[in-house]
Amino acid sequence: MQITETSDLWWKSAVIYCLDIETFLDANGDGSGDLGGLARRMDYLNELGITCLWLMPFYPSPDRDDGYDIVDFYGVDPRLGNHGELVEVIRTAHDRGIRVIADLVINHTSDKHPWFREARRSKDNRYRDFYVWRDTPPPDTHTQVVFPDKETSVWQFDERTEEWYLHHFYKYQPDLNTSNPDVRREILRIIGFWLQLGIDGFRVDAVPYFLSSDKTSPSESMPGDPHLVLKSIRSFLERRKGSAMMLGEVNLPYDQQLAYFGGEAGDELNQMFDFVGMQAAYLSFAREDATPLKEALLARPPIHATCAWANFLRNHDELTLDKLSESERQEVFDAFGPEENMQLYGRGLKRRLPSMLGGDPRRIRMAYSLMFSLPGTPALYYGEEIGMIEDLEAEGRMAVRTPMQWSDRPNGGFSTTEPRHLVQRLVPDGGSPEHINVARQRHEGDSLWNFIRDLIGLRRTCNELGWGEVSILDQPAPSVLAHRCDLPGAAIIAVHNLASEAVTIDLSVDALTSETMEGDPDGPKPVPFVCVDLWGPHRVELENGVLRVALPAYGYRWFRILEADDLDAP
Ligand code: NOJ
Repeated sequence: MQITETSDLWWKSAVIYCLDIETFLDANGDGSGDLGGLARRMDYLNELGITCLWLMPFYPSPDRDDGYDIVDFYGVDPRLGNHGELVEVIRTAHDRGIRVIADLVINHTSDKHPWFREARRSKDNRYRDFYVWRDTPPPDTHTQVVFPDKETSVWQFDERTEEWYLHHFYKYQPDLNTSNPDVRREILRIIGFWLQLGIDGFRVDAVPYFLSSDKTSPSESMPGDPHLVLKSIRSFLERRKGSAMMLGEVNLPYDQQLAYFGGEAGDELNQMFDFVGMQAAYLSFAREDATPLKEALLARPPIHATCAWANFLRNHDELTLDKLSESERQEVFDAFGPEENMQLYGRGLKRRLPSMLGGDPRRIRMAYSLMFSLPGTPALYYGEEIGMIEDLEAEGRMAVRTPMQWSDRPNGGFSTTEPRHLVQRLVPDGGSPEHINVARQRHEGDSLWNFIRDLIGLRRTCNELGWGEVSILDQPAPSVLAHRCDLPGAAIIAVHNLASEAVTIDLSVDALTSETMEGDPDGPKPVPFVCVDLWGPHRVELENGVLRVALPAYGYRWFRILEADDLDAP
């Protein structure tokens, strides 16, 4: 690996942190988080060690889908601040070496967006074709809706023009017609605009939906393969900013996901969340058996060298379990969300991780250590660093979108307003800021916050995990995942025990391979190596090439194998 590559393809070495400005910190005391608050917390994020900040939608919005219903793609919601403050936030982040990516929601707009208001005025309005219409009654599409608690069809009748418009999500989120070249041009302008203001890339919302084949208009159709649309967006992005990237939300089986990386060419999304691996991890946690996760890792398709997976345990949506079989999903429900008010849409859980794992600190740390050690890039959701839990009484997915808990001061230090003016109430009872907050945990040596900070620091020194070749190591304990990520001249071995029973395993450690010199007829050669315990850190002796690892209940260890004469060897 060349040192230049790690900074060039920065998303392969990043630690991502997602937050919603609205619930992070309220600087002006109106009850809603804002850009001023985020700027104030940039040193906090830097201290935590994250390297990429993913901002959830900050655009003007009626806020019926937490900002994913946008009325102006070029604006900043005045409740959060203005363009000037956003540019300050980006600059403050860049000064600390943190990149900023923004949610890019191009599958749909709000029904209050001026384009849609125009489009529904008449069938010959110039914006009509910005959306997808049909003039005959739609077939039954109730199995295709994303939010079955609120919608029964992906088509909604429009009284005025007596046609139906397509909406894959809520009916107030009409789908944009990506087959219309004017829409595609507009999408590029939006991307260009935010790059110009300093944004480093995008988390692209609902990618398979905006490429779906039902988006054709009478005048135009998608240019052949819908993936050409994604390729043209990627090439525009790179023309405008060579280091910019796109991290896509593509919750599809692995074989279908590969196409969204651009297959062998790697010319579409640079990065995708690993939804399949995440769901397999929860099944493994539920069973205390690493097999499902192991199988998922082995089933990951090989991806282009410039592409990467993003690993995560939670995000702002329900914990979706839609890729598991019905009985597997039931196992996870039984283990982590048996009550009806914990479940959502029949496919997921409206909970955060610590409560699902019964608040057991050993298990919670093991889960994060595991997620951070998986090949790819770790992504955290705000509040995970202190073990925030959900507010089960909040409506739907809002359960996991409560304000950040900074201290045990009123409103958890999030805002100085009256509680009734808060954008959302803080988690009550056992999960309240009185019990769980940043201020306390920063000063407690053994807190989750300090653990996560150490974990981030460690992960940032382990490029093998973002760049290396993964292999699953043979060992007899079903509860253990032992995997290895290799680069020429260095490797990481990570070992995680998912069960409450202690276990000791023997791992046979293969030699490292050297960097191949150009023109070297013999190819890579094995090199003498040593083994270092990275949580120590100290050297570990192997016996006849065997590494003996004793893991307590929910124990975890990370080792580095490095050349014996490497200057980093202790
Ligand atoms: C996916 C987002 O993660 C979710 O929060 C949103 O509701 C839908 N896309 C629609 O934008």
